[in-house]
Amino acid sequence: MFDYRRIQVLANRSTSDAREHYAGHRAQTMKSIQEGINALGRQPQKLIVFGVGNGNDLNLPQLSALASEVWLSDIDGETLNNTVEGYGLAHKVRTWVGDAGGGVEEINRLRTAAGTSAQSLEGLLRELELNLQFHTNGNPFPEKFDLVVSQCLLSQIQWAVSQTVWDRAQISFAAGQRLLRDGVQSPPFPQLARVLELLTFNHLKWLAGVLRRGGMLILNTDITWQGIPLYGTDVSRIWQHLAERHNLKGLLLTMPEEKLWQWDLDERTAATVSSALFMKNG
Ligand SMILES: C[S@@+](CC[C@H](N)C(=O)[O-])C[C@H]1O[C@@H](n2cnc3c(N)ncnc32)[C@H](O)[C@@H]1O
Repeated sequence: MFDYRRIQVLANRSTSDAREHYAGHRAQTMKSIQEGINALGRQPQKLIVFGVGNGNDLNLPQLSALASEVWLSDIDGETLNNTVEGYGLAHKVRTWVGDAGGGVEEINRLRTAAGTSAQSLEGLLRELELNLQFHTNGNPFPEKFDLVVSQCLLSQIQWAVSQTVWDRAQISFAAGQRLLRDGVQSPPFPQLARVLELLTFNHLKWLAGVLRRGGMLILNTDITWQGIPLYGTDVSRIWQHLAERHNLKGLLLTMPEEKLWQWDLDERTAATVSSALFMKNG
């Protein structure tokens, strides 16, 4: 059976010694976190980063001093623990291992069914859409945070679904994603676009749920890999639409123009990263 967590463990292992390749990306990430603190107007009391992994794209010693209480989180507990130990931060930070509202159990179910069931792709996606609509998240933390960072994990969630669909449809990832971006209206494109929007919405809802009123959220996510679009449409429109239309308990995009940077892990992997800042209204 496909296991989303296992894929993340393997991906993290493959980049565990690649820290030097992350220097530019790391500098941009830390700058985005500092901008979130500036927008907050004071040092945060409680800060959490989701998607810490190996910590390659973060300056963890610096980060651990940015708030009175710093939490590091990831779905991959093995890597997270190694990272915290490796930086000697066990006495300075708290950790939480789990799914940051990504609906990974639902994704696992789709992946398994896509490989074994004769049901149409359209039907499988409709089922996933229904499951994701009823997906509920509790807040596992004792108190809410005044600064929340989502660090390049939303693209992993999106990829796990898109890749499954293109495999089953026997279309290359690049071709499928481009047709999706162009808004093709035949199945499975509209169904997949709705699922990707729901996955984004659920992740944002999770982040909004752990954020205190007046707090800031920094959403950093890859939006292209090798020029291949990872989202169905223009991302800044997606953020705007989700934050305004669904209101997300007062979550508002504070930067109409999201910021972008390029990042190359090696000659095969080049990404564009988008950074957006949200505020939760009091
Ligand atoms: C692309 S990596 C980001 C790079 C990472 N900060 C590093 O330096 O290794 C994405 C991280 O998000 C984690 N992740 C993926 N899906 C997640 C989810 N649904 N909930 C929480 N963490 C997740 C992965 O395990 C991985 O560590």
